[in-house]
Amino acid sequence: MTELGPGEESLIKVAALARARAYAPYSKFKVGAAIRSSRNRIHAGANVENASYGLTVCAERVAAFVAVNAGDAKAWDAIAIVAEGDGLPTPCGACRQVLAQFSPAMTVILATTGGARKVTTLAELLPDPFRLEVGT
Ligand code: THU
Repeated sequence: MTELGPGEESLIKVAALARARAYAPYSKFKVGAAIRSSRNRIHAGANVENASYGLTVCAERVAAFVAVNAGDAKAWDAIAIVAEGDGLPTPCGACRQVLAQFSPAMTVILATTGGARKVTTLAELLPDPFRLEVGT
């Protein structure tokens, strides 16, 4: 099992706490995410489902939008993503693209409530994101 540092483990802890606030009555699959910015601020989110299933928003995007709305939209160091089950919760393509808009080089920490961990990077998960340069 991958051994992580205390910074990574505490980011996972925040993501796990956020996960408790997931609204997932349809899939019952609760996900929590926490983004740490280079200013050392942490922004968390959980998935929010809808009766019109396609309107569901993943935990990673909720956390990203919380960060942006807190005025902390640049140079994110890392995101931790936590879910329950055997498989590690790797972010969907839409969330990869949204994260890459702000921090294409960030670290991505995948974790389960059972203690599995994997550390990767957004560049590895999404090597060639779509970009429309607008000087942000
Ligand atoms: N989900 C996330 O929140 N993050 C992911 O990385 C993948 C999937 C959510 C969306 C939906 O509410 C539930 O998990 C099942 O797909």
